[in-house]
Amino acid sequence: MKVKAQAILFVIMMTLSYCCSALESAQPILPSSEVLTLIQANRDNPETLAKLLPIVSHPIKSSHYEQILMTQLRDQKTDTKNFRELSKKIGTLLVNKVVECLAAKNVNINTPVSRFQGLELNGNIELVSIMRSGDALVDTFINHFPKAKVSKILVQRDEKTAKPNFQYMKLTPTIAQGNQIIITEPMIATGGSLDMAISLLKEKGVKEENILVASICAAPEGLLHLNTKFPKIKIVMTALDEKLNDKKYIVPGLGDFGDRYFGTH
Ligand code: URA
Repeated sequence: MKVKAQAILFVIMMTLSYCCSALESAQPILPSSEVLTLIQANRDNPETLAKLLPIVSHPIKSSHYEQILMTQLRDQKTDTKNFRELSKKIGTLLVNKVVECLAAKNVNINTPVSRFQGLELNGNIELVSIMRSGDALVDTFINHFPKAKVSKILVQRDEKTAKPNFQYMKLTPTIAQGNQIIITEPMIATGGSLDMAISLLKEKGVKEENILVASICAAPEGLLHLNTKFPKIKIVMTALDEKLNDKKYIVPGLGDFGDRYFGTH
């Protein structure tokens, strides 16, 4: 009886000591409003940002050329023709950033002069456009990945509630075969449309770690949401903006990307 009591006491003490050490080592859980403030304060500090938002693993600070193009894109005086041209230029720079985050391998080739060890991407790329704005960006990506198959998902944002509504989806038959999936979504506001699109892709068998989102402009609120829900995806963006306004538009942002690109405003 005495031995049994000692054994129970031993188990209780071990459990208590395990719980205490787990509590000591656990990260402090900050309310999301504080995390948002930290993200905003560290927009140009890639190391801190990567700790707060592991899905954003590339340096955010834009190059001068990106900043110049983004300034013109944001300007409300920019008309549809120029908006399209600027989107394409920014899209090409975004492709460059995306490729930096993809796995590549060495290949040996012959130049007309000598042997050369170069680089090629490891594996196939598939593109997923979140219509309508995603279509504006997907064309630029197709130019750079001409063999990539393209899936489309239409999620419309309710103008009043800013909540996403699923409308249509056409996926490639190979979507769940382990290819690198690049989703084009120029604006990440609440992250609601992306949440729906990524959930649909996962339901169809796509692995989270194979998903990369390419975006022009993102709000911290959307990134925080996606980081919590899909910690294994990657997000590559041109600009990380300040916040959302009460209508869930990105601030400073550029207004409605689809309207400005397609001329429907
Ligand atoms: N979609 C846009 O096009 N713009 C925003 O600011 C937010 C969502």
